[in-house]
Amino acid sequence: MGEVKQVGIVGGGVIGSAWAARLLINGIDVALYDPGDGIESRFAEVLENALRAYRRMTLAPTAATGRIRFVDSLEAAVSEVDFVQESGPERMDVKQALMKEICRHTGAGVIVASSSSGLLPSAMQAGVDHPERIIVGHPFNPVYLMPLVEIVGGRQTTEKTCNTAAGFYRRIGMHPLIVRKEVEAFLADRMMEALWREALHLLNEGVATADELDQAICYGPGIRWAFMGSFLTFRIAGGEGGMRHFMGQFGPALKWPWTRFDGPDLTEELLDRIVEQSDEQAAGRSILELERMRDDCIVSILQGLRANHTAAGQVLAGYEEKLYQRSHRSEFSCEDDLSRPLRLHRDIVRPEWVDYNNHMTESRYLHVFGDASDALFRYIGVNEEYHQSGMSYYTVETHMNNLREVEAHQKIEVTTQVLGSDRKRLRIYHEMFRCEDNRLLASAEQMLLHVNTLEGRACPAREEVAERVRILAEAHSRLEQPARAGRSIRL
Ligand SMILES: NC(=O)c1ccc[n+]([C@@H]2O[C@H](COP(=O)([O-])OP(=O)(O)OC[C@H]3O[C@@H](n4cnc5c(N)ncnc54)[C@H](O)[C@@H]3O)[C@@H](O)[C@H]2O)c1
Repeated sequence: MGEVKQVGIVGGGVIGSAWAARLLINGIDVALYDPGDGIESRFAEVLENALRAYRRMTLAPTAATGRIRFVDSLEAAVSEVDFVQESGPERMDVKQALMKEICRHTGAGVIVASSSSGLLPSAMQAGVDHPERIIVGHPFNPVYLMPLVEIVGGRQTTEKTCNTAAGFYRRIGMHPLIVRKEVEAFLADRMMEALWREALHLLNEGVATADELDQAICYGPGIRWAFMGSFLTFRIAGGEGGMRHFMGQFGPALKWPWTRFDGPDLTEELLDRIVEQSDEQAAGRSILELERMRDDCIVSILQGLRANHTAAGQVLAGYEEKLYQRSHRSEFSCEDDLSRPLRLHRDIVRPEWVDYNNHMTESRYLHVFGDASDALFRYIGVNEEYHQSGMSYYTVETHMNNLREVEAHQKIEVTTQVLGSDRKRLRIYHEMFRCEDNRLLASAEQMLLHVNTLEGRACPAREEVAERVRILAEAHSRLEQPARAGRSIRL
């Protein structure tokens, strides 16, 4: 399978729509088939939620949004694509019929993934053409934000299929987890199901209400689960004695009646209680309100984890690094033309950057210059690995001149000139142009300080970075000094 440029989605419900949103945001075109009504308007809502969440989650330049085609047959959705994500109803007879038809209309090299939450891929392989390319790619809701995707191969799936699919999912910002053995409900849903069954028993027996059971998760273990599963948590709980000590202490409880595996019978009375308590808990909030609250909280957690370089935060950091690399020329080369200012950063004025004056608002000029400085950092080798080693540049002073307005959707480009440097300091000068007519929009002069972020003090740049800065500064010293550099504000 070459680079995936277009994906076919079969079934555009909760999961299929959110897959489509994630793919479009990553610049991949989508062909979507769903026989139901109102798919386009439902998808528009999901995409709006997803774009809103990404705007909050990252400043990294996401790809130009891909295009979506709503098609009226399964064949039209899958016949010209590079990857298929089946997201129809969770019934084995439906999945089997869909898989047969999908595989009939796709080339042998096209991977066909099912979003199934728990059905076995081996059963979906029965009677299809080239079953070796079938997997389950089980995502989590909301698919556009949650990084985990469980990859499960069936008996006839090749290892290559699983690895190729993992590479593709990684590219769109996800964390693929290849499940070693084919089991129903895979890993995460099995664990969630065990908790869910116990919760229903506790509700059924009147031990706690729906809301109290949710409190028992949200205020306690749920906070930890975003970065530590049961094993690491319990290891710490064992203190210096570690896991052996923990198991010695709590091992006997495994034989006590602390939990059950069969869920309670879903009697009418129990169903009524669940629904009633769930309505109370929602307290009149709409699904859209709850979705946005959920998305905002996931974004905050991902950002918090990113700052701690852990779990899903590492996935976010790696994803952002790829976005930056894709949008900037990231690597310095001695072959580069250094006889003029660098052109490392291009962008488009987003509609949300525009204020009541109908043009890009003041703070976004600084934002764009900040992105241009980031592009320069990557160019000289200050990347994710460099940051993780506890080194970075901080901006300590900026002087901006706003010269012209720029409207939404216009393309802009920033040039960057190095005005001076030593091992700890870097003085740079940016100019922002409108691509359409090459008019100068703004300029910014910045002093950047190289810091040890762990110790919170200035320190010399690492040798390879310092060398690139030195070469750049030397080359740019032959350029004309910009007229606006070094200016101060006066009447
Ligand atoms: N909802 C979740 O939290 C979740 C999470 C992970 C995985 N999944 C899995 O994703 C899949 C889809 O679940 P969902 O929650 O989006 O369900 P859904 O009911 O919201 O969507 C299913 C969609 O499939 C469409 N459909 C029905 N027959 C079809 C056909 N023959 N061809 C194409 N489309 C058809 C329906 O019109 C509907 O829009 C299931 O396999 C489910 O187990 C769901």
